[in-house]
Amino acid sequence: MTTHRLDALPLRPELRGKSPYGAPQLDVPVRLNTNENPYPLPEPLVARIAERVREAARDLNRYPDRDAVELRTALAAYLSREGYEVTAAQVWAANGSNEVIQQLLQVFGGPGRLAIGFEPSYSMHGLIARGTSTEWVSGPRRADFTIDTEAAVAALATHRPDVVFITSPNNPTGTAVDRETVIALHDAAQALKPTVVVADEAYVEFSHTGSLLPLLEGRPLLVISRTMSKAFGAAGLRLGYLAADPAVVDAVQLVRLPYHLSAVTQATALAALEHTDTLLGYVEQLKAERDRIVTELTGLGFEVTPSDANFVQFGVFDGPGGAQAAWRYLLDRGVLVRDNGVPGRLRVSTGTPAENDAFLDAVRGLKKEHSA
Ligand SMILES: Cc1ncc(COP(=O)(O)O)c(C=O)c1O
Repeated sequence: MTTHRLDALPLRPELRGKSPYGAPQLDVPVRLNTNENPYPLPEPLVARIAERVREAARDLNRYPDRDAVELRTALAAYLSREGYEVTAAQVWAANGSNEVIQQLLQVFGGPGRLAIGFEPSYSMHGLIARGTSTEWVSGPRRADFTIDTEAAVAALATHRPDVVFITSPNNPTGTAVDRETVIALHDAAQALKPTVVVADEAYVEFSHTGSLLPLLEGRPLLVISRTMSKAFGAAGLRLGYLAADPAVVDAVQLVRLPYHLSAVTQATALAALEHTDTLLGYVEQLKAERDRIVTELTGLGFEVTPSDANFVQFGVFDGPGGAQAAWRYLLDRGVLVRDNGVPGRLRVSTGTPAENDAFLDAVRGLKKEHSA
């Protein structure tokens, strides 16, 4: 895409000079840059998906279930495994949690409205805000990447947001947000005006602590956003979902495109949910590998941000070239990690044990050659 062509188009002013979101998709032996699950789906699940999709294919002359009732019921059952009962009426699904977030901002954001997140965090929150003409404000974090409740509450008071994003575990830092902080921010926002608080839990299955789901009780404007892209190893499926008060589910239906979730997507997601136990087994392996990466990097003398996700942020690269030079060093050795633009830091996704070994070998070389 060339800028001069874009410039010739009558773009909305806020999109002028902007680039599309996207991590580099480079063909290297060890790709640890997009927080994917490194394990392909197991064969019995692949066979079940084929079976379910074959059944769905017979009805592809018809539009899919617009309300995705069977899928929402299965997602509610999955969420309820964590101990807090969730009903299908509280669940909504879309093409990735990015679409869930977009629908939320279409309903609760928009022109004249403002959303805030505490950065560094998932940059798509701000980009989707821009795409929906919602003003975006970057709220503060401490130097250790945790949220300072007092400073965050002050930012809420200054900006009086309509939508608040709390990402836990946070991307790219891996930092979980404790319940007390979420409650404090939720309550402070509501004290100013009715505010939708979105807890983005894309990585929560990898967390040392549990989900924020129980906080839904008595908080009708709290929304928990989840995805099958990470723990379920199904990033290619594009299935995200939310849990909230049924009124919020009714609200997003005001903006969702009719039949947004294809029959093939619904069939595939249902098949994956049938194999939840196997897939969560992989999550346990990934958590152990994540903890191994943290231990090894710490042992090598890196500053490692405690991680509750399937990735680890590490640094500090304050030598010549900073994080970009370190990123390049690893890439030259066949290991692709992510430079999220957090000064002096890189982020590595947890891969298979062999991929993690390759990363750790490369990083040992880096440590020897550069002072990190
Ligand atoms: C915090 C966070 N939320 C949401 C998403 C989007 O996930 P999905 O694949 O469900 O659109 C990501 C993806 O990286 C993420 O890091």
